[in-house]
Amino acid sequence: MDPKKMSAAGLDTQAVWAGETGPFPFGAAVMPIVSAATFAYEDLTTWQSVATGGSAGHIYSRNSNPTVAVLEDKIAALDGVEAAAAFSTGMAAISSTLFALLSPGDRVVSTKDTYGGTNVLFEHFLPRFSIEATLCETTDASAIEREIARGCKLLYLETPTNPTLKIVDIERLARAAKAHGAIVVADNTFATPINQSPAALGVDLILYSATKFIAGHSDVLAGLVSGRKDLVKQIHHFREIAGATLHADAAYAVLRGMKTLALRMARHNSNAQAIAEHLSRHPKVTGVYYPGLPTHAGHDIAKRQMRGFGGVLSFTPRGPFSAIKTVLERLEFAQLAAHLGGVATTAGPPAVTSHVELTAAERARAGIPETLIRYSVGIEDPADLCADLDQALSAI
Ligand SMILES: Cc1ncc(COP(=O)(O)O)c(C=O)c1O
Repeated sequence: MDPKKMSAAGLDTQAVWAGETGPFPFGAAVMPIVSAATFAYEDLTTWQSVATGGSAGHIYSRNSNPTVAVLEDKIAALDGVEAAAAFSTGMAAISSTLFALLSPGDRVVSTKDTYGGTNVLFEHFLPRFSIEATLCETTDASAIEREIARGCKLLYLETPTNPTLKIVDIERLARAAKAHGAIVVADNTFATPINQSPAALGVDLILYSATKFIAGHSDVLAGLVSGRKDLVKQIHHFREIAGATLHADAAYAVLRGMKTLALRMARHNSNAQAIAEHLSRHPKVTGVYYPGLPTHAGHDIAKRQMRGFGGVLSFTPRGPFSAIKTVLERLEFAQLAAHLGGVATTAGPPAVTSHVELTAAERARAGIPETLIRYSVGIEDPADLCADLDQALSAI
């Protein structure tokens, strides 16, 4: 198919078709799992031509693999960018991006509210290689602009944030970073390409834990980076050497999940909105964090830069830490798990899930209450989820 026709198609259509227009080997209707570790050649001339980039093909699956390549094409199409690379996990995509692009003496500007693992990279691992990371108040755009102006190689954003659902103004900060020659990177895990298009707002590289909404069925770990071809090429090369590649089996599971990504996100969005509104009226709830609520501090920016507000919300039940134990253990339609983005609802306190690596003091500094429950709304009937929350909250 003409690539222009694909990029003009709606996101629902691209979720099904992008990267998968075929024809596939053996006349298969879907891209098969090419489980081969390596690719064999009958003559040295062809092998050499592929190995030196003279003709298309695959040599060894740590470097490239046909099933993985289809996944890379699909995410690049959905994000409206030139290229993509797939990794074994979201953290592999994030750490490979940072280590591929940064050198000793470089400076990163980011925010306090990035995913816990990313925060550990900034606070503990990058400094070991003499790479400084300055972490600003997440919603203080002026402070972030001031730090960018002091000079930085890379601006790293995440929005909505995990787990307090803060919203960062991507377009404003990307503009500031570009004016100072910095690379702009954004973790789009919570929004997915269905709810947010960071490249259209000035982002150079988009990161995903594809383990979450992108794959959507809680049965595979994967990470993706998509964006500018020159940068993706460097990251892809780092992956070849560092080796955190994605297996074809996992790529297939992600591809199958992605065909329903647009459908699932529409339901995640409407379910989360209904539950956030329900909880914000609930007498046993003291706070609800969801960008779809008009009372949310980032609501106006979210309305501007997102097409939907996503499937994750957080809330604080009335009472001490023991109250969240009561509520969580009584929930029947929620798995207590360190996970989000699946078709089944999952819930857990960041203190034992996404931010378990941080000390209580570090969580407090990041503005994460110890009594916060992160609730990733699945695609169930919202009336059942509200009733389940009501019966659990009634016990406190
Ligand atoms: C926003 C965000 N980014 C990155 C990651 C890391 O992804 P993975 O668990 O696939 O390594 C997570 C995991 O929860 C996440 O929530």
